[in-house]
Amino acid sequence: METKEVFDTVAYRYDFMNDIMSLGAHRYWKEVLIDFLSPREDTHILDVAGGTGDVARRFLNRIKGNGFATVSDPNEYMIEEGKKNHRFKSKIEWVVAPAEDLPFTDNTFDAYLVSFGVRNFSDIKRSLKEAYRVLKPGGKFFCLEFSKVENKTVSSIYNMYSSIIPVIGKVIVGDEEPYKYLTKTIDEFPSQKEFKEIIESTEFTDVNYKNIFNGIVAIHFATKAVNAE
Ligand SMILES: C[S@@+](CC[C@H](N)C(=O)[O-])C[C@H]1O[C@@H](n2cnc3c(N)ncnc32)[C@H](O)[C@@H]1O
Repeated sequence: METKEVFDTVAYRYDFMNDIMSLGAHRYWKEVLIDFLSPREDTHILDVAGGTGDVARRFLNRIKGNGFATVSDPNEYMIEEGKKNHRFKSKIEWVVAPAEDLPFTDNTFDAYLVSFGVRNFSDIKRSLKEAYRVLKPGGKFFCLEFSKVENKTVSSIYNMYSSIIPVIGKVIVGDEEPYKYLTKTIDEFPSQKEFKEIIESTEFTDVNYKNIFNGIVAIHFATKAVNAE
């Protein structure tokens, strides 16, 4: 199943399924992401692979509707689903675009966020280059993604749960394929240490990550130097 087809299929129930599949935990993980961002009232974020705009709305909620969010995603169905939610409507700009080819001028955003999107990118290095280009000097990169669990016991419980995810998908949306894709992309994605090295191989500085829930997810962060060209 192709990435686009996966999100075409799940778009209409995407937010609901996120709650079911993560047992509500995605809400907490995204709030931690916003803690890391620590936004100010004039912050302008780019939420890449933003889907239905869940992260963008959490960001706007944190600063009481101040600031501004640009949500970009190549899947128009996900974006159309996001537009149905009118919360902070005037503070969100929606753009259909892939992470590998962002239609924004250089040095535009205070922060670049990507939540559960990077493992879908067709070219991660090119996307990181684009992230760097569109950030202002001093701008911050944040990536929330499923990662590798560090404790063996937690890992075996988590693996057991992952194996029933496609079954839950079949029961709720009538199709297990998108959820097989989900678990496959999680398995194939680099470990937190490997992904840190990939980010370090770009022009970003101050690269690091923080595990949450023993590495079920991790937040990677990096900075575009203040004196960057
Ligand atoms: C799991 S959803 C995440 C949505 C949202 N960020 C969240 O955390 O709820 C993954 C998103 O990645 C998008 N996507 C797939 N390929 C992409 C690419 N090459 N560039 C940017 N986004 C992509 C999909 O369309 C989908 O909306």
